[in-house]
Amino acid sequence: MTYNDIRKLFLNYFESHGHKIVPSASLIPNDPSLLFTVAGMVPWKNIFLGLENPPAPRVADVQKCIRAGGKHNDLEDVGVDGRHHTFFEMLGNWSFGDYFKEGALEMSWDLLTNVIGIDPNRLVVTAHETDDEAATLWKKIAGKEAIRLGKDNWWSAGDTGPCGPCSEIFYDFGPDVPGGLPGSPDEDGGRYVEIWNDVFMQYDRDANGNLTDLPNKNVDTGAGLERWAAMLQGKTDNYDTDLFVNLKRAVSDVTSVAETPENITSFKVITDHLRSVGFAIADGVIPSNTDRGYVIRRILRRAMRHGQLLGHSGALLSRLYPALVREMGDAYPELAQNQAHVIEVITNEENAFADMLNNGIKLLDNEVPKVQNGVLPGAVAFKLFDTYGFPLDLTQMILRDKNITVDVAGFESEMAAQKERSRADTKGTRVLWESRTDVPETDDTTKYAPNDNMESRVLAILRDGEFVDSANDGDAVEVALDKTNFYGTQGGQVGDMGELKIGDTVVLNVNEAARANNVVLHRGTVVGKISVGDTVKTVVNAQNRAQTARAHTATHLLQAALRKVLNTDVEQRGSKVAPDSVRFDFSFGRAMTDEEKVAVEKLVNEWINADMTVLHEEMPIDEAKKRGAMALFGEKYGDVVRVITAGDVSCELCGGTHINHTGEIIRAKINKEKSISSGIRRITMSVGVLAQ
Ligand code: ALA
Repeated sequence: MTYNDIRKLFLNYFESHGHKIVPSASLIPNDPSLLFTVAGMVPWKNIFLGLENPPAPRVADVQKCIRAGGKHNDLEDVGVDGRHHTFFEMLGNWSFGDYFKEGALEMSWDLLTNVIGIDPNRLVVTAHETDDEAATLWKKIAGKEAIRLGKDNWWSAGDTGPCGPCSEIFYDFGPDVPGGLPGSPDEDGGRYVEIWNDVFMQYDRDANGNLTDLPNKNVDTGAGLERWAAMLQGKTDNYDTDLFVNLKRAVSDVTSVAETPENITSFKVITDHLRSVGFAIADGVIPSNTDRGYVIRRILRRAMRHGQLLGHSGALLSRLYPALVREMGDAYPELAQNQAHVIEVITNEENAFADMLNNGIKLLDNEVPKVQNGVLPGAVAFKLFDTYGFPLDLTQMILRDKNITVDVAGFESEMAAQKERSRADTKGTRVLWESRTDVPETDDTTKYAPNDNMESRVLAILRDGEFVDSANDGDAVEVALDKTNFYGTQGGQVGDMGELKIGDTVVLNVNEAARANNVVLHRGTVVGKISVGDTVKTVVNAQNRAQTARAHTATHLLQAALRKVLNTDVEQRGSKVAPDSVRFDFSFGRAMTDEEKVAVEKLVNEWINADMTVLHEEMPIDEAKKRGAMALFGEKYGDVVRVITAGDVSCELCGGTHINHTGEIIRAKINKEKSISSGIRRITMSVGVLAQ
């Protein structure tokens, strides 16, 4: 039975038992306590809590999940055995106040033994130590004595929220596989593998650990599809099942390396990581240095490192993605729908990282002979992180082969010190730049049409609170140029990212273009060397720019929709426009109702779908006023102003970057609306692929 067969069989069974079949929810949960959807129940949390109504009393689905950060994290175990994945699919059936323990256990048993025909002697069941009811039911349904366990038979997604006792079913892979029964000291050996967990969701746990009853008694079940495939295909290693065999073949094709017992770990890691990275980006995650973006960046880099261990250099996951679409695109249409976007994002990451990886490994090769007592100093690991973008675990992984560990405490204290420095820096540097009267305002007139080949001269470099003539590898600096096409943070819009290059060589990785007195500061980390007087190419990260531009136009649509739905007194009081995300503060005296939020979001999306033309024009301020252009409260404007007009719904004075057609926004989603001070509300909204 292939993966596709198993998904169908599972869903058909539950459909014929009165369940509504629903598609998988996004990997990005609507839940701030989680980085990713870690289990099938995550999208249903609010229903368990009684805050939302279920789509039906009985539901079944196959949910994509990632466990690679926070409480549920399997990253380190991938490749070490054949059962762990950062990305996996969870088959699940749900009862929202409908059937409870008896119905759930009966159906699990019926599907496994009667429908699929698994020998009951190969199945072992467990129940929570307090749950006599489940134990009695197992005797009745299966004639089985349940093994009674404590914390392993209690399930919750986070530290707080819905939870309850659970009952697991294990499959015995046979005496040839080492490992003991659940609850025994060698339970992790691999002989008995958990294939289904029936959770009886009946409590809500608060921050102090107190349990209160949920409004309903519910059932949440989870069965790992990869483990089912192993069981039904007679494999003891998930990576030997059909889907992975095909993905591993693609790895072989791309790297021109055959799988062997020596390199199998790399094959496992790459196929696993291809799935997390591909699916996460298709759901809108963008690799970055924070939160889930950072988790995905780390996973992508681990995969590249394993590519390197196979002797492969250059693009890897971007070339493997079409194989993922081939294998899983039928079950998950979003993979093919977002293919161009995913490949572009991965390619950008791979290109940036390939350079860093080579330079970093050179540095490490120099440092390894100096290592004493088998421990790499924290400062070196930090330099690798800060300058070459090596996550700590990547450095550890590279050194593991050489039996060298990293001084993690030293690394962390370097990290804390740098955070402190950068806090002090951002406050202090503006004053320093303002004291440099000889640095002219940056000519940034080309910022609305960024041209990758612009040549500029380095006028000044600020490092550690001092102006220097040149700065070296790893230095955190701010660089002023005579002209630039980088958009420096202004008017609530976050500045561009990108690179300064000499010829084809990157000399500065720009994290953000900031501003002091209209001098655009290219803030980032030096690679190699940069000196005053150098001629550099300013290369704006086009993808990041496009994501910011669509967020900015979406902000204007949001303001127009708020004025339409609430009233025309609504005024902007502040905003932060970042790639694909918007924070918008406005004057309004009360909380918005749910209906109002829905109406605003709907209107914004209607305008996006109408694909209205967005005009960017310069004109005398009087003419802009005549057109009724909205100006920002308390802001001073010059005689000639820039006006951004979206169809006939929005006309605003604005110096930011924008798109040309509202359809480029794709879609918008309001995430939150809250009060930030008396009479001021804040909306956060996602756009583009983040708005799922
Ligand atoms: N929520 C349960 C689990 O993830 C089914 O194991």
